[in-house]
Amino acid sequence: MEATVNVNGVVTSADQAVVSVFDHGFLYGDGVYETLRTYNRRPFFLDRHLKRLRASAERLTIAIPLQDDDFTQRLQATMADVHPSGEVMLRILITRGIGELSYDPSACRRPTVVIIAQAHREIPETKIRTGLRLVVASVLRNHPQSVDPSIKSNNLLNNVLAMQEALHLKADEAILLNHRGEFAECSQSNLFVVRDGKVLTPPLDAGLLEGVTRNFLFEVGTDLEVPVAEAVLRETDLPQLDEMFITSTTREVVPVIRVGSHQIGSGRPGPITMRLLEQFRRRAHETARDPAAD
Ligand code: PDD
Repeated sequence: MEATVNVNGVVTSADQAVVSVFDHGFLYGDGVYETLRTYNRRPFFLDRHLKRLRASAERLTIAIPLQDDDFTQRLQATMADVHPSGEVMLRILITRGIGELSYDPSACRRPTVVIIAQAHREIPETKIRTGLRLVVASVLRNHPQSVDPSIKSNNLLNNVLAMQEALHLKADEAILLNHRGEFAECSQSNLFVVRDGKVLTPPLDAGLLEGVTRNFLFEVGTDLEVPVAEAVLRETDLPQLDEMFITSTTREVVPVIRVGSHQIGSGRPGPITMRLLEQFRRRAHETARDPAAD
């Protein structure tokens, strides 16, 4: 593993980075995380990611022991020597901390703060040219009254199980349905479709992670005067769709050409998807040049 890691302020190589087996993040998945990437070596939308990190932590009643400026410094210290000529992927993890085997939060004195910095690997351009193949997983997205998908938690078994199904079928991603049988999101990304010139994505109420990229896509759509809205979507809508794509921090915007046995639209990456991707990248690079823009 090629990475630099920061555990509670101490920066080491990947093989030297250690967290206790009594950490409740390890024992119970009791923690939260964010994945960021840099453009021009600046963490993109750091403010939005930290806001979501704090919101997730609050839902688990984990008190994050760092201010935003502390995060900025720690991220810089961790990524300084990583992939100097290229972009970096950063993962921030906050766990409940080290404590006795107990579900009582008071068993842990202080949260553990980990940052992993690695070279960012762009999604291969061939995938963008050919488009992704998705499957609808048999495992349902967690019910919002169970492990709420809007919390970006380290408890990722729901996502892991869905992605295992996709991998088994040699697909690129898995779509998860919610308990009502509606599309919610994918195992590691948000889902969008294009129908009659409109871009649609499942509403937050479908039970999903409110992606930073998903939210940004509404702004990118406005730039292009392409309407982007929330709508309930189901498998029965697949034959009527013109285009489909997924969004995430690490993958930006990636076209989808097939879901299971259904071809989407022409079976090739769609023109609206490609315009959104182009504008997304333009805005991301602009923001990286001009910090005041985000
Ligand atoms: N994944 N939905 C899920 C379940 C995700 O795990 C992610 C992000 C997203 C997209 O969110 P954003 O646009 O804020 O990256 C949606 C990240 C990349 C990860 O797990 O590493």
